[in-house]
This record gives sequence, structure tokens and C-alpha cells, in this order.
Amino acid sequence: MPGKGWMWLAGGAAAAGTGIFQLRRWALGSYPTKPGKVLAPHPKDDPVLGSVPSLGTDLLGTFVNAWKECGDVVYVRSPRTMCLLAHPDHVKHVLIDRQPIYPRSQIVRDRLRAIMGNGMFSSAGPLWSRQRRLMQPAFHGESIASYTKLITDTTTSMLDGWQQLAGRRTPVEVPDEMMRLGFTIIGRIIFGASWDEHAAAFREAFLTASEYGGPRVLALVSLPQWMTPDYYRYRRAIGMADAIVYKAIDERRHAPTGDLISLLVHARDAETGEGMSDEEARDEIMTAFFGMYKSIPHALTWTWYLLSKYPSARRRLQDELATVLQGRTPTMEDFPGLEYTRKVIDEVLRLYPPLWIMSRPPTEDDEIGGYYIPAELFILIIPYITHRHPDFWENPDGFDPERFTPERIAARHPCAYIPFTVGKRKCIGDEFSLVALRLIVATIAQRFELNLVPDHPISRQLEFIMRPINGMPMTLERAPQRQTTPAAKEPIAARAR
Ligand code: HEM
Repeated sequence: MPGKGWMWLAGGAAAAGTGIFQLRRWALGSYPTKPGKVLAPHPKDDPVLGSVPSLGTDLLGTFVNAWKECGDVVYVRSPRTMCLLAHPDHVKHVLIDRQPIYPRSQIVRDRLRAIMGNGMFSSAGPLWSRQRRLMQPAFHGESIASYTKLITDTTTSMLDGWQQLAGRRTPVEVPDEMMRLGFTIIGRIIFGASWDEHAAAFREAFLTASEYGGPRVLALVSLPQWMTPDYYRYRRAIGMADAIVYKAIDERRHAPTGDLISLLVHARDAETGEGMSDEEARDEIMTAFFGMYKSIPHALTWTWYLLSKYPSARRRLQDELATVLQGRTPTMEDFPGLEYTRKVIDEVLRLYPPLWIMSRPPTEDDEIGGYYIPAELFILIIPYITHRHPDFWENPDGFDPERFTPERIAARHPCAYIPFTVGKRKCIGDEFSLVALRLIVATIAQRFELNLVPDHPISRQLEFIMRPINGMPMTLERAPQRQTTPAAKEPIAARAR
């Protein structure tokens, strides 16, 4: 019957229209507005799916292109309505000036809670303040100095293993080597002399658990945990890691051994006299592992990559090491002479900030750069982009450690360089990381040159931490004997990918 046919057709069209509308709503989220308010511009994207297709294939590329097309405040249309801020003034606004209304995103904190519990990264309010005060001494001043020998000893034993590979064509997989090194260093700091006993079981359990939790942080949408097949593997793994940590906490409560676990369980808050419960200590231990296990290793990986691409910078580094260390193992006392080493590390962290993205949804309405920022809008700060902002960085994609002379640092916008972020929720491991990186780079570069296997394609994998997706195989050469006077300053300004 024609009447029924039309009804079916009309019903179908309405359903399709509603479907498209729903799909569009799902894909584009919502950017609520108010009369008289100006919304941030968005790039030309799919009318129905917004930026979803390109976010799925190239997350960072989508943000970079959106910024280049639209400017320093840009709305990226996806199921989670996102607004990227690139300008250092806006970074300062969010992370310092109006920090109380821009907490770390609840979604990120909830997802990381799978590993870190209520540790400092995922907590807020009075719990966070107390935990930060209690953890602070473990990563500053004298504590850092007490870790330096452990750092160089662990690095030297890795290099002893490399000795037989030098001059051969067999490459080492650098990210794996650096991850093993980083994990052993943080393991020895946390567990002290008992690390070797726990290393294999803890490493396996922790990595399995964090490979579940880490990637979920960036997912645009995610299934309820219990529906994901990895969830049960994660539950078993985190249970095993917890058992090792709780046993160590219990032992240290009765007999402190001078490691970081002892320091945490016996720390007392100067303001309240309170200490940490077993669960709080467990959460901070997992937080420290999570903070360290990829960040320093991948910063090191990118360091070897850039030094392999820029031989003149590597020569200058080798000259500095030869002059200052003359074959000795580096210590913190050598740091005043290892200025170029520091500049190289600063420049690596600029081009490849390991923690490359942060989110800060405001708790109330705000305005940034003349644009309306409604409460809950998923504000993104992307150090990778701010670090390449052409108004603050000449030849932004070039590798040039000389950007980090004291004069040039002092002349720069304080929020143009934020590898550890700024403000109240700044990384607690910043000072420790810079010391560890300088010691490790100096120890390795003194003995070896790492060269990228020719034609190996390098592209970034953007999990929570930026790492090379196809690995980074590099061959090893013994470092040449260098002259022991500083080399002439050569400009190094080719493009870094
Ligand atoms: C190159 C090395 C590192 C880099 C680039 C780095 C970077 C960062 C960044 C950007 C944040 C802020 C994240 C946000 O606001 O969303 C952060 C926070 C944090 N990092 Fe690191 N980190 C590094 C090493 C470490 C290490 C070794 C630890 C070990 C203790 C650590 C522990 C933490 C903690 C606990 C926080 C949260 C601080 C708070 O909320 O009070 N990080 N880190």
C-alpha cells in the first residue's frame, strides 16, 4: 500500500536524521555558549565527525595542524570537547594565575588511579598537600646527592654489557635498553638492597598493569573497565605488584633500611605530625615508578637520536666530557663544568617533552585570549607545541642547545619552556630527573657513540609519554679520544623531526 510505504520512508528518514544528529552530537561533543560570548575557532574538519577521523590516525599532527590553522586558542571537535592553548601567556593563566579553578582532569586521574591509587598524581586537596610535603624530601637536595653513585654504577654495568657489541653491526634497541636502565635505577632507589630479589617479578607485574592503565589515559572514549579483556590480566598483575610492595612496607616499618620505602613509611608531616598509612605509602611508591619508568628513559632515547643526527653537537659534548672528566665517572661536583651536557638535555626536553600533553578542565567559566571557556571544557596544554611556538623560539624545529645559555633563558617567557610544567602541580621529580639525565648522558657519551641504523623510520608514538613507535635500533662505537679543550662553537641548526 502506498500510504504505508510513505510512512516507512518517512520513519526511515526521521530515524536516519536522528541517527546522524546523535552521531554528530556524539562526535562533536558540545561547546556551550552564552549570549555575547565568542567561541574559539575550530579547524576545517568533517561536518559530521569533526576531528575524530584525524585524531584517530595522528593525534599530535591534528593538534599541530589545528593550531597552525586557527591560532593560539583552538577548539578541536571530538566526543570530548577540547580546547588547545598554545601561547605561554595562556599556559601561565591556567597553571599559575588561575590554577585553583584548573585542576588536573578527573578523567585522567581516574584512569591513572588503576595503578597509582590516590598517589600524589591522582589526588587533590588536603591529601595531595600532605603527600607532596611527605614525598618532597625524597626527591630533593641531599636525597638526590645520595642516589648519584647508584645511578652511575647502574649505568656503568649496562655499558660493561655493551662492550662486546661495540664496533659490530648488531644494533641495540635503545628504548628497551633505556627502559631497563631507568627501571633498575628507580627500583634500587625505592627498594634499596632488596631490589635484585624482587626485580624480575615486580617489573613483569608492574609493566603488565601499567600497559593497561597508561594507554587508557588518552582514549577519547573507553569501555567500562570490566568489559575490556585486558582488565583481568591487569587485576592479576597489580595484585602481584601490590603484594611485593606491601611486604616491603611491612618489613621497613619494623626495620628501616635507608631506602625510599623506609623514608616514606617513617616520614612525619611537619605540620600535623601524621605519617603515611600502608596504602598511602603503596600509592606513592607506584606513583614514583610510574613517574619515572618511561619519562627519563624516553628522554634518553631522544637524546641518542638527536646526537646521532647532529654529529657536531655530539663532538662538542664529547670534548666537554673529555676536558672535565678525563675518563672519570661523573659526579654532581662536575656539574659546573658540564654546561653543554645540560644544554643538550634542555634542548632534547624542548623538542621531545616526554609528557607531551596535559588536560585542565576548569571548574567555572572563564575567558582566555578573548574566547569563552565554559566550565568543564577539556583544556589542553601541549608542551610539544608551546616549545615550538615561533614567537618564542627562533627556528623552532632546529636542534640548538645554545638556546639554553643563562642569558637566553632569563630573556625568555617563563612559560615558554614547560617540560615539567610550572606552578603548584609541577613535577616533583624535576630536579632528580635533570641530575639523573646529566649523569647518565655523561657516563654513556664518554664511552660510546650511538648511531641510528640508516634508513630506520622514526615516528612518534603518542601514549602518555612520547616514544618512537618503531623502536630505535642503534649501533655502538667506542667514543673517540677527544681533544681536552672546548671545541669552537659551531651553530647546529638543522631541522629536528
Ligand atoms: C624527564 C623526566 C620527567 C618529566 C619530563 C616529567 C614531567 C612531568 C609533568 C609534565 C608533570 C605534570 C603533569 C600534569 O600536570 O598533568 C609531572 C608530574 C609529576 N611527576 Fe614527573 N616528569 C619526569 C620525571 C618524574 C620522576 C622521575 C618522578 C618520580 C618521582 C616524577 C613524578 C611526578 C609526580 C608525582 C607528578 C605529580 C605532581 C603533583 O601533582 O603534585 N616525574 N611530571
